[in-house]
Amino acid sequence: MLTGFIFLLFLTDGVLPENNCSYQDVLNHLQLTKTNELYSMTRPVKNHKRPTRVSLEVLLYAILDVVEKDQKFIPYVWTVMRWHNEYISWDPNQFCGIDSVSLPAEVLWIPDITIEEMTEKDKAPPSPYLTINDKGDVEVQNNQVLVSTCRMHIYKFPFDIQNCNLSFKSIIHTAKDIRLQPSDNSTDATEWSRDVMRTQYEWLFLNMTVTTNNASDLISQDIIIYTITMKRRSLLYIVNFLVPILFFLCLDLASFLISDNGGEKLSFKVTVLLAVTVLQLILNEILPASSNRIPLIAVYCIGIFALMLLSLLETILVMHLMEKDSQASQDNKADNGRSKDCNKRGKANFHDSHQEGNEWTQCGCIYDVCETPSELLPVTKEGNSRKVMEEYHALEKLSDELREMQKTLSLLLSNTKEVAKPGYWTRVANKVNKVFFIFYLTVVV
Ligand SMILES: *[C@@H]1O[C@H](CO)[C@@H](O)[C@H](O)[C@H]1NC(C)=O
Ligand SMILES: *[C@@H]1O[C@H](CO)[C@@H](O)[C@H](O)[C@H]1NC(C)=O
Ligand SMILES: *[C@@H]1O[C@H](CO)[C@@H](O)[C@H](O)[C@H]1NC(C)=O
Ligand SMILES: *[C@@H]1O[C@H](CO)[C@@H](O)[C@H](O)[C@H]1NC(C)=O
Ligand SMILES: *[C@@H]1O[C@H](CO)[C@@H](O)[C@H](O)[C@H]1NC(C)=O
Repeated sequence: MLTGFIFLLFLTDGVLPENNCSYQDVLNHLQLTKTNELYSMTRPVKNHKRPTRVSLEVLLYAILDVVEKDQKFIPYVWTVMRWHNEYISWDPNQFCGIDSVSLPAEVLWIPDITIEEMTEKDKAPPSPYLTINDKGDVEVQNNQVLVSTCRMHIYKFPFDIQNCNLSFKSIIHTAKDIRLQPSDNSTDATEWSRDVMRTQYEWLFLNMTVTTNNASDLISQDIIIYTITMKRRSLLYIVNFLVPILFFLCLDLASFLISDNGGEKLSFKVTVLLAVTVLQLILNEILPASSNRIPLIAVYCIGIFALMLLSLLETILVMHLMEKDSQASQDNKADNGRSKDCNKRGKANFHDSHQEGNEWTQCGCIYDVCETPSELLPVTKEGNSRKVMEEYHALEKLSDELREMQKTLSLLLSNTKEVAKPGYWTRVANKVNKVFFIFYLTVVV
Protein backbone atom coordinates (compact mmCIF):
# COMPACT_ATOMS: atom_id res chain seq x y z
CA MET A 1 0.00 0.00 0.00
CA LEU A 2 2.88 2.29 0.91
CA THR A 3 4.61 1.59 -2.38
CA GLY A 4 1.35 2.35 -4.15
CA PHE A 5 1.15 5.71 -2.42
CA ILE A 6 4.75 6.55 -3.31
CA PHE A 7 4.08 5.52 -6.88
CA LEU A 8 1.06 7.80 -6.94
CA LEU A 9 3.22 10.63 -5.63
CA PHE A 10 5.82 9.93 -8.25
CA LEU A 11 3.17 9.86 -10.89
CA THR A 12 1.69 13.24 -9.94
CA ASP A 13 5.22 14.65 -9.61
CA GLY A 14 5.97 13.44 -13.05
CA VAL A 15 2.87 14.96 -14.57
CA LEU A 16 2.89 18.47 -13.00
CA PRO A 17 5.99 20.15 -14.56
CA GLU A 18 4.37 20.20 -17.95
CA ASN A 19 1.45 22.26 -16.65
CA ASN A 20 3.13 25.62 -15.91
CA CYS A 21 3.58 24.78 -12.23
CA SER A 22 6.95 26.37 -11.42
CA TYR A 23 7.55 29.95 -10.29
CA GLN A 24 9.87 30.39 -13.21
CA ASP A 25 6.93 29.77 -15.52
CA VAL A 26 5.17 32.71 -13.94
CA LEU A 27 8.23 34.89 -14.42
CA ASN A 28 8.58 33.70 -17.99
CA HIS A 29 4.95 34.54 -18.59
CA LEU A 30 5.54 38.03 -17.13
CA GLN A 31 8.83 38.37 -19.03
CA LEU A 32 10.30 39.36 -15.72
CA THR A 33 14.09 39.18 -15.69
CA LYS A 34 16.79 41.05 -13.90
CA THR A 35 17.51 43.08 -17.00
CA ASN A 36 13.97 43.88 -18.03
CA GLU A 37 13.85 47.61 -17.46
CA LEU A 38 10.11 47.76 -17.77
CA TYR A 39 9.78 46.64 -14.18
CA SER A 40 12.65 48.21 -12.27
CA MET A 41 13.25 51.68 -13.76
CA THR A 42 10.00 53.60 -13.52
CA ARG A 43 6.86 53.82 -11.55
CA PRO A 44 4.69 50.89 -12.70
CA VAL A 45 1.64 52.66 -14.05
CA LYS A 46 0.27 52.55 -17.55
CA ASN A 47 -0.94 56.15 -17.31
CA HIS A 48 1.42 58.58 -15.57
CA LYS A 49 -1.50 60.63 -14.24
CA ARG A 50 -2.51 57.78 -11.99
CA PRO A 51 -0.66 57.95 -8.66
CA THR A 52 0.70 54.85 -7.02
CA ARG A 53 -1.09 54.23 -3.77
CA VAL A 54 1.33 52.96 -1.19
CA SER A 55 -0.14 51.60 1.98
CA LEU A 56 2.05 51.41 5.02
CA GLU A 57 1.96 49.35 8.14
CA VAL A 58 4.35 49.83 11.02
CA LEU A 59 4.71 47.65 14.08
CA LEU A 60 6.96 48.26 17.01
CA TYR A 61 9.02 45.24 18.00
CA ALA A 62 11.13 46.76 20.71
CA ILE A 63 12.24 49.98 22.25
CA LEU A 64 15.96 49.39 22.23
CA ASP A 65 17.23 52.62 23.65
CA VAL A 66 16.24 56.12 24.58
CA VAL A 67 19.12 58.50 25.11
CA GLU A 68 17.79 61.63 26.75
CA LYS A 69 21.12 63.40 26.62
CA ASP A 70 21.37 63.10 22.83
CA GLN A 71 17.60 63.20 22.29
CA LYS A 72 17.89 59.89 20.53
CA PHE A 73 15.22 57.25 20.21
CA ILE A 74 16.12 53.80 18.90
CA PRO A 75 13.15 51.54 18.19
CA TYR A 76 13.15 48.28 16.35
CA VAL A 77 10.28 48.44 13.87
CA TRP A 78 8.76 46.22 11.32
CA THR A 79 7.43 48.01 8.25
CA VAL A 80 5.29 46.63 5.49
CA MET A 81 4.72 48.54 2.26
CA ARG A 82 2.15 47.52 -0.32
CA TRP A 83 1.44 49.01 -3.70
CA HIS A 84 0.07 48.01 -7.06
CA ASN A 85 2.16 47.21 -10.10
CA GLU A 86 0.02 47.51 -13.20
CA TYR A 87 2.28 45.34 -15.34
CA ILE A 88 1.97 42.29 -13.18
CA SER A 89 -0.96 39.93 -13.37
CA TRP A 90 -1.58 36.31 -14.14
CA ASP A 91 -4.25 33.76 -13.80
CA PRO A 92 -3.43 31.32 -11.00
CA ASN A 93 -5.55 28.65 -12.66
CA GLN A 94 -3.11 28.54 -15.56
CA PHE A 95 -0.17 28.09 -13.20
CA CYS A 96 -1.22 25.31 -10.87
CA GLY A 97 -2.83 27.80 -8.53
CA ILE A 98 0.35 29.84 -7.90
CA ASP A 99 -0.89 33.14 -6.57
CA SER A 100 2.27 34.69 -5.17
CA VAL A 101 5.94 34.69 -5.99
CA SER A 102 8.98 35.94 -4.10
CA LEU A 103 11.51 37.91 -6.08
CA PRO A 104 14.80 39.65 -5.49
CA ALA A 105 13.97 43.19 -4.42
CA GLU A 106 16.03 44.87 -7.14
CA VAL A 107 14.02 43.56 -10.11
CA LEU A 108 10.99 45.74 -9.32
CA TRP A 109 10.40 49.38 -8.73
CA ILE A 110 10.16 50.25 -5.04
CA PRO A 111 8.79 53.53 -3.63
CA ASP A 112 11.42 55.66 -1.95
CA ILE A 113 9.79 55.91 1.43
CA THR A 114 11.98 57.31 4.16
CA ILE A 115 11.65 58.35 7.75
CA GLU A 116 12.21 62.01 8.44
CA GLU A 117 13.54 61.55 11.95
CA MET A 118 16.10 58.96 11.00
CA THR A 119 19.60 60.23 11.68
CA GLU A 120 21.62 57.15 10.86
CA LYS A 121 21.31 54.79 7.96
CA ASP A 122 20.01 51.44 9.00
CA LYS A 123 22.98 49.16 9.41
CA ALA A 124 21.01 45.99 8.80
CA PRO A 125 20.70 45.26 5.07
CA PRO A 126 17.20 45.74 3.67
CA SER A 127 15.13 42.70 3.07
CA PRO A 128 16.42 41.04 -0.13
CA TYR A 129 13.02 39.81 -1.25
CA LEU A 130 9.63 41.14 -2.11
CA THR A 131 6.43 39.32 -2.83
CA ILE A 132 4.08 39.75 -5.77
CA ASN A 133 0.64 38.27 -6.17
CA ASP A 134 -1.45 37.45 -9.18
CA LYS A 135 -3.35 40.77 -9.06
CA GLY A 136 -0.17 42.81 -9.24
CA ASP A 137 0.11 43.78 -5.60
CA VAL A 138 3.69 44.04 -4.39
CA GLU A 139 4.66 43.77 -0.75
CA VAL A 140 7.97 44.61 0.91
CA GLN A 141 8.66 43.79 4.52
CA ASN A 142 11.55 45.22 6.43
CA ASN A 143 12.93 45.02 9.92
CA GLN A 144 14.75 48.14 10.86
CA VAL A 145 16.70 49.43 13.79
CA LEU A 146 15.90 53.09 13.53
CA VAL A 147 18.19 55.64 15.07
CA SER A 148 15.92 58.64 15.19
CA THR A 149 15.80 61.98 16.86
CA CYS A 150 13.05 62.67 19.30
CA ARG A 151 12.48 65.81 21.24
CA MET A 152 12.18 64.70 24.84
CA HIS A 153 10.43 66.56 27.57
CA ILE A 154 12.25 65.71 30.73
CA TYR A 155 10.56 68.26 32.97
CA LYS A 156 8.88 65.53 35.00
CA PHE A 157 11.83 63.15 34.98
CA PRO A 158 11.75 60.32 36.08
CA PHE A 159 7.96 60.30 35.89
CA ASP A 160 7.88 61.36 32.28
CA ILE A 161 5.94 60.11 29.29
CA GLN A 162 7.61 60.60 25.95
CA ASN A 163 6.07 60.91 22.51
CA CYS A 164 8.34 60.10 19.64
CA ASN A 165 7.31 60.57 16.04
CA LEU A 166 8.26 58.51 13.06
CA SER A 167 7.23 60.40 9.94
CA PHE A 168 7.09 58.33 6.77
CA LYS A 169 7.20 60.10 3.44
CA SER A 170 8.62 59.80 0.00
CA ILE A 171 11.99 61.37 -0.66
CA ILE A 172 11.28 62.95 -4.04
CA HIS A 173 7.81 61.95 -5.16
CA THR A 174 4.95 64.33 -4.63
CA ALA A 175 1.31 63.52 -4.12
CA LYS A 176 0.98 63.48 -7.90
CA ASP A 177 3.03 60.30 -8.01
CA ILE A 178 2.69 58.62 -4.67
CA ARG A 179 -0.22 58.68 -2.27
CA LEU A 180 0.56 57.33 1.13
CA GLN A 181 -2.01 55.79 3.39
CA PRO A 182 -1.79 53.74 6.56
CA SER A 183 -3.28 50.29 6.44
CA ASP A 184 -3.89 50.13 10.16
CA ASN A 185 -5.59 52.54 12.52
CA SER A 186 -4.25 53.52 15.92
CA THR A 187 -6.13 50.84 17.83
CA ASP A 188 -4.86 48.05 15.62
CA ALA A 189 -1.31 49.36 15.56
CA THR A 190 -1.23 49.56 19.33
CA GLU A 191 -2.71 46.14 19.81
CA TRP A 192 -0.48 44.41 17.29
CA SER A 193 2.59 46.13 18.60
CA ARG A 194 1.72 44.96 22.10
CA ASP A 195 1.43 41.43 20.76
CA VAL A 196 4.79 41.38 19.05
CA MET A 197 6.67 43.48 21.58
CA ARG A 198 9.81 41.63 22.57
CA THR A 199 11.79 43.70 24.97
CA GLN A 200 10.96 46.81 26.83
CA TYR A 201 13.15 47.33 29.79
CA GLU A 202 13.36 50.92 30.86
CA TRP A 203 10.47 52.12 28.77
CA LEU A 204 6.96 50.83 28.87
CA PHE A 205 5.12 51.01 25.56
CA LEU A 206 1.75 52.70 26.03
CA ASN A 207 0.25 53.18 22.58
CA MET A 208 0.89 54.12 19.02
CA THR A 209 -1.12 56.71 17.15
CA VAL A 210 -1.32 57.00 13.42
CA THR A 211 -1.81 60.44 11.92
CA THR A 212 -2.22 61.06 8.22
CA ASN A 213 -1.18 64.38 6.78
CA ASN A 214 -2.77 64.26 3.37
CA ALA A 215 -1.23 66.56 0.82
CA SER A 216 -3.44 69.57 0.15
CA ASP A 217 -2.24 69.88 -3.45
CA LEU A 218 -0.35 67.78 -5.93
CA ILE A 219 3.05 69.33 -5.35
CA SER A 220 3.24 68.58 -1.64
CA GLN A 221 3.68 65.18 -0.08
CA ASP A 222 1.63 62.82 1.99
CA ILE A 223 3.10 62.13 5.38
CA ILE A 224 2.13 59.40 7.79
CA ILE A 225 3.18 60.03 11.37
CA TYR A 226 3.40 57.19 13.83
CA THR A 227 3.58 58.59 17.32
CA ILE A 228 4.94 56.14 19.84
CA THR A 229 3.95 56.94 23.39
CA MET A 230 5.98 55.38 26.14
CA LYS A 231 6.39 55.72 29.82
CA ARG A 232 9.56 55.49 31.83
CA ARG A 233 9.80 52.86 34.50
CA SER A 234 10.71 55.18 37.32
CA LEU A 235 11.10 52.65 40.13
CA LEU A 236 14.83 52.27 39.67
CA TYR A 237 15.31 56.01 39.67
CA ILE A 238 13.26 56.32 42.83
CA VAL A 239 15.26 53.59 44.54
CA ASN A 240 18.65 54.69 43.26
CA PHE A 241 18.25 58.40 43.25
CA LEU A 242 15.34 60.08 44.97
CA VAL A 243 15.32 57.95 48.10
CA PRO A 244 19.08 58.14 48.74
CA ILE A 245 18.94 61.91 48.52
CA LEU A 246 16.08 61.87 50.98
CA PHE A 247 18.14 59.62 53.23
CA PHE A 248 21.01 62.05 53.09
CA LEU A 249 18.62 64.80 54.03
CA CYS A 250 17.48 62.71 57.02
CA LEU A 251 21.12 62.19 57.98
CA ASP A 252 21.63 65.90 57.78
CA LEU A 253 18.59 66.41 59.97
CA ALA A 254 19.84 63.82 62.43
CA SER A 255 23.15 65.62 62.65
CA PHE A 256 21.43 68.25 64.75
CA LEU A 257 21.70 65.73 67.56
CA ILE A 258 25.51 65.80 67.38
CA SER A 259 26.98 68.22 69.88
CA ASP A 260 28.25 71.47 68.49
CA ASN A 261 31.52 71.17 70.36
CA GLY A 262 34.36 69.83 68.31
CA GLY A 263 34.48 69.60 64.53
CA GLU A 264 32.65 66.28 64.18
CA LYS A 265 29.34 67.80 63.26
CA LEU A 266 30.95 70.00 60.68
CA SER A 267 32.86 67.21 58.96
CA PHE A 268 29.79 64.98 59.05
CA LYS A 269 27.71 67.61 57.33
CA VAL A 270 30.36 68.25 54.72
CA THR A 271 30.49 64.52 53.98
CA VAL A 272 26.73 64.33 53.49
CA LEU A 273 26.87 67.38 51.23
CA LEU A 274 29.55 65.73 49.12
CA ALA A 275 27.43 62.60 48.79
CA VAL A 276 24.58 64.68 47.38
CA THR A 277 27.03 66.31 44.99
CA VAL A 278 27.98 62.89 43.64
CA LEU A 279 24.33 62.10 42.96
CA GLN A 280 23.98 65.43 41.23
CA LEU A 281 26.85 64.52 38.96
CA ILE A 282 25.06 61.33 38.00
CA LEU A 283 21.94 63.32 37.24
CA ASN A 284 23.97 65.61 35.05
CA GLU A 285 24.95 62.64 32.94
CA ILE A 286 21.35 61.59 32.34
CA LEU A 287 19.62 64.86 31.60
CA PRO A 288 20.19 66.74 28.38
CA ALA A 289 21.69 70.17 28.66
CA SER A 290 19.31 71.46 26.03
CA SER A 291 16.21 71.62 28.18
CA ASN A 292 15.21 75.22 28.63
CA ARG A 293 12.92 74.43 31.53
CA ILE A 294 14.67 73.24 34.65
CA PRO A 295 13.48 69.70 35.36
CA LEU A 296 11.67 69.17 38.62
CA ILE A 297 14.25 66.67 39.76
CA ALA A 298 17.01 69.24 39.34
CA VAL A 299 14.98 71.66 41.43
CA TYR A 300 14.52 68.94 44.03
CA CYS A 301 18.24 68.25 44.02
CA ILE A 302 19.34 71.82 44.20
CA GLY A 303 16.73 72.53 46.86
CA ILE A 304 18.04 69.78 49.09
CA PHE A 305 21.57 70.83 48.34
CA ALA A 306 20.74 74.41 49.33
CA LEU A 307 19.09 73.22 52.54
CA MET A 308 22.15 71.21 53.46
CA LEU A 309 24.38 74.12 52.60
CA LEU A 310 22.29 76.37 54.83
CA SER A 311 22.49 73.90 57.67
CA LEU A 312 26.24 73.69 57.20
CA LEU A 313 26.52 77.46 57.33
CA GLU A 314 24.33 77.49 60.42
CA THR A 315 26.60 74.94 62.08
CA ILE A 316 29.60 77.08 61.29
CA LEU A 317 27.86 80.10 62.78
CA VAL A 318 26.86 78.22 65.91
CA MET A 319 30.35 76.89 66.32
CA HIS A 320 31.71 80.38 65.94
CA LEU A 321 29.35 81.70 68.60
CA MET A 322 30.24 78.88 70.97
CA GLU A 323 33.90 79.51 70.37
CA LYS A 324 33.33 83.09 71.36
CA ASP A 325 31.59 81.97 74.51
CA SER A 326 34.18 79.44 75.49
CA GLN A 327 36.88 82.04 74.94
CA ALA A 328 35.10 84.44 77.26
CA SER A 329 34.68 81.77 79.95
CA GLN A 330 38.33 80.82 79.59
CA ASP A 331 39.29 84.41 80.14
CA ASN A 332 37.07 84.44 83.20
CA LYS A 333 38.71 81.30 84.54
CA ALA A 334 42.17 82.67 83.97
CA ASP A 335 41.23 85.92 85.66
CA ASN A 336 39.74 84.04 88.54
CA GLY A 337 42.84 81.93 89.06
CA ARG A 338 45.07 84.94 88.86
CA SER A 339 43.06 86.95 91.39
CA LYS A 340 43.22 84.04 93.84
CA ASP A 341 46.93 83.94 93.41
CA CYS A 342 47.16 87.62 94.00
CA ASN A 343 45.18 87.42 97.16
CA LYS A 344 47.31 84.71 98.65
CA ARG A 345 50.38 86.65 97.85
CA GLY A 346 48.89 89.85 99.13
CA LYS A 347 48.12 88.18 102.42
CA ALA A 348 51.45 86.53 102.88
CA ASN A 349 53.92 89.06 101.58
CA PHE A 350 52.07 92.21 101.91
CA HIS A 351 54.92 93.87 103.69
CA ASP A 352 57.32 93.56 100.84
CA SER A 353 54.96 95.51 98.67
CA HIS A 354 58.13 96.97 97.43
CA GLN A 355 58.94 93.89 95.37
CA GLU A 356 55.38 92.95 94.81
CA GLY A 357 54.50 96.26 93.31
CA ASN A 358 54.39 94.77 89.87
CA GLU A 359 52.18 91.94 90.97
CA TRP A 360 49.83 94.37 92.54
CA THR A 361 49.58 96.37 89.44
CA GLN A 362 48.38 93.28 87.63
CA CYS A 363 46.04 92.25 90.38
CA GLY A 364 44.75 95.72 90.91
CA CYS A 365 43.78 95.92 87.29
CA ILE A 366 41.33 93.15 87.77
CA TYR A 367 39.46 95.17 90.35
CA ASP A 368 39.73 98.37 88.41
CA VAL A 369 42.08 100.05 90.79
CA CYS A 370 45.03 100.25 88.50
CA GLU A 371 45.76 103.83 89.28
CA THR A 372 46.58 103.44 92.95
CA PRO A 373 49.32 100.84 92.68
CA SER A 374 50.90 102.44 89.68
CA GLU A 375 51.10 105.69 91.62
CA LEU A 376 52.27 103.73 94.60
CA LEU A 377 55.40 102.47 92.96
CA PRO A 378 57.37 105.60 92.54
CA VAL A 379 56.34 106.70 96.05
CA THR A 380 57.74 103.59 97.73
CA LYS A 381 60.88 103.96 95.78
CA GLU A 382 61.33 107.36 97.34
CA GLY A 383 61.40 105.70 100.77
CA ASN A 384 59.26 108.19 102.62
CA SER A 385 58.29 106.17 105.71
CA ARG A 386 55.38 108.31 106.76
CA LYS A 387 53.83 108.12 103.40
CA VAL A 388 54.50 104.43 103.37
CA MET A 389 52.63 103.99 106.60
CA GLU A 390 49.70 105.95 105.27
CA GLU A 391 49.73 103.91 102.16
CA TYR A 392 50.02 100.77 104.20
CA HIS A 393 46.85 101.55 106.07
CA ALA A 394 45.07 102.40 102.89
CA LEU A 395 46.27 99.23 101.32
CA GLU A 396 45.18 97.17 104.28
CA LYS A 397 41.74 98.56 103.94
CA LEU A 398 41.81 97.87 100.24
CA SER A 399 42.98 94.34 100.77
CA ASP A 400 40.11 93.74 103.20
CA GLU A 401 37.73 94.99 100.63
CA LEU A 402 39.37 92.89 98.04
CA ARG A 403 39.11 89.80 100.16
CA GLU A 404 35.43 90.37 100.61
CA MET A 405 34.98 90.93 96.91
CA GLN A 406 36.95 87.81 96.18
CA LYS A 407 34.70 85.84 98.49
CA THR A 408 31.56 86.97 96.72
CA LEU A 409 33.20 86.43 93.36
CA SER A 410 34.32 82.92 94.19
CA LEU A 411 30.84 82.19 95.44
CA LEU A 412 29.45 83.42 92.17
CA LEU A 413 31.97 81.47 90.18
CA SER A 414 31.38 78.22 92.05
CA ASN A 415 27.71 78.77 91.48
CA THR A 416 28.17 79.01 87.73
CA LYS A 417 30.40 75.99 87.73
CA GLU A 418 27.87 73.81 89.48
CA VAL A 419 24.92 74.71 87.26
CA ALA A 420 27.14 75.00 84.15
CA LYS A 421 25.07 77.92 83.08
CA PRO A 422 25.74 78.53 79.36
CA GLY A 423 27.19 81.81 78.33
CA TYR A 424 25.29 84.41 76.38
CA TRP A 425 26.57 83.31 73.03
CA THR A 426 25.89 79.66 73.70
CA ARG A 427 22.34 80.55 74.48
CA VAL A 428 22.12 82.51 71.28
CA ALA A 429 23.63 79.58 69.42
CA ASN A 430 21.16 77.15 70.93
CA LYS A 431 18.32 79.44 70.02
CA VAL A 432 19.62 79.72 66.46
CA ASN A 433 19.93 75.95 66.37
CA LYS A 434 16.40 75.45 67.51
CA VAL A 435 14.89 78.01 65.19
CA PHE A 436 16.85 76.67 62.28
CA PHE A 437 15.87 73.10 63.06
CA ILE A 438 12.19 74.04 63.05
CA PHE A 439 12.65 75.96 59.80
CA TYR A 440 14.53 73.02 58.30
CA LEU A 441 11.87 70.55 59.33
CA THR A 442 9.04 72.65 57.93
CA VAL A 443 10.86 73.15 54.67
CA VAL A 444 11.58 69.45 54.39
CA VAL A 445 7.98 68.57 55.12
C1 LIG B 1 1.93 27.69 -19.89
O1 LIG B 1 1.50 29.05 -19.96
C2 LIG B 1 1.70 29.69 -21.16
C3 LIG B 1 1.27 31.12 -21.02
O2 LIG B 1 0.12 31.25 -20.28
C4 LIG B 1 0.89 28.97 -22.23
O3 LIG B 1 1.15 29.54 -23.46
C5 LIG B 1 1.31 27.50 -22.25
O4 LIG B 1 0.49 26.81 -23.15
C6 LIG B 1 1.14 26.86 -20.92
N1 LIG B 1 1.63 25.51 -20.96
C7 LIG B 1 0.97 24.52 -20.38
C8 LIG B 1 1.56 23.15 -20.54
O5 LIG B 1 -0.09 24.65 -19.82
C1 LIG C 1 4.44 64.44 16.35
O1 LIG C 1 3.35 64.42 15.49
C2 LIG C 1 2.19 65.03 16.00
C3 LIG C 1 1.06 64.82 15.01
O2 LIG C 1 1.33 65.47 13.83
C4 LIG C 1 2.46 66.50 16.24
O3 LIG C 1 1.34 67.11 16.80
C5 LIG C 1 3.63 66.62 17.20
O4 LIG C 1 3.98 67.96 17.37
C6 LIG C 1 4.83 65.86 16.68
N1 LIG C 1 5.84 65.85 17.69
C7 LIG C 1 7.11 66.18 17.43
C8 LIG C 1 8.05 66.10 18.57
O5 LIG C 1 7.46 66.52 16.31
C1 LIG D 1 -9.73 50.25 13.56
O1 LIG D 1 -9.93 49.22 12.63
C2 LIG D 1 -10.66 48.11 13.12
C3 LIG D 1 -10.76 47.12 12.00
O2 LIG D 1 -9.57 46.95 11.36
C4 LIG D 1 -12.04 48.57 13.57
O3 LIG D 1 -12.73 47.49 14.14
C5 LIG D 1 -11.89 49.66 14.61
O4 LIG D 1 -13.15 50.18 14.95
C6 LIG D 1 -11.04 50.78 14.05
N1 LIG D 1 -10.82 51.78 15.09
C7 LIG D 1 -10.93 53.07 14.87
C8 LIG D 1 -10.67 53.95 16.02
O5 LIG D 1 -11.22 53.50 13.77
C1 LIG E 1 -1.99 57.03 24.44
O1 LIG E 1 -1.56 57.11 25.80
C2 LIG E 1 -1.50 58.45 26.30
C3 LIG E 1 -0.98 58.37 27.68
O2 LIG E 1 -1.62 57.39 28.45
C4 LIG E 1 -2.89 59.08 26.23
O3 LIG E 1 -2.80 60.42 26.67
C5 LIG E 1 -3.39 59.04 24.80
O4 LIG E 1 -4.69 59.54 24.76
C6 LIG E 1 -3.36 57.62 24.28
N1 LIG E 1 -3.74 57.63 22.90
C7 LIG E 1 -4.58 56.74 22.40
C8 LIG E 1 -4.86 56.87 20.97
O5 LIG E 1 -5.09 55.88 23.08
C1 LIG F 1 -6.30 60.99 3.54
O1 LIG F 1 -6.61 60.30 2.38
C2 LIG F 1 -7.09 58.97 2.56
C3 LIG F 1 -7.33 58.37 1.23
O2 LIG F 1 -6.28 58.56 0.41
C4 LIG F 1 -8.36 58.99 3.41
O3 LIG F 1 -8.78 57.68 3.67
C5 LIG F 1 -8.06 59.71 4.72
O4 LIG F 1 -9.25 59.84 5.46
C6 LIG F 1 -7.50 61.09 4.45
N1 LIG F 1 -7.11 61.67 5.72
C7 LIG F 1 -7.37 62.93 6.00
C8 LIG F 1 -6.92 63.39 7.35
O5 LIG F 1 -7.90 63.67 5.22
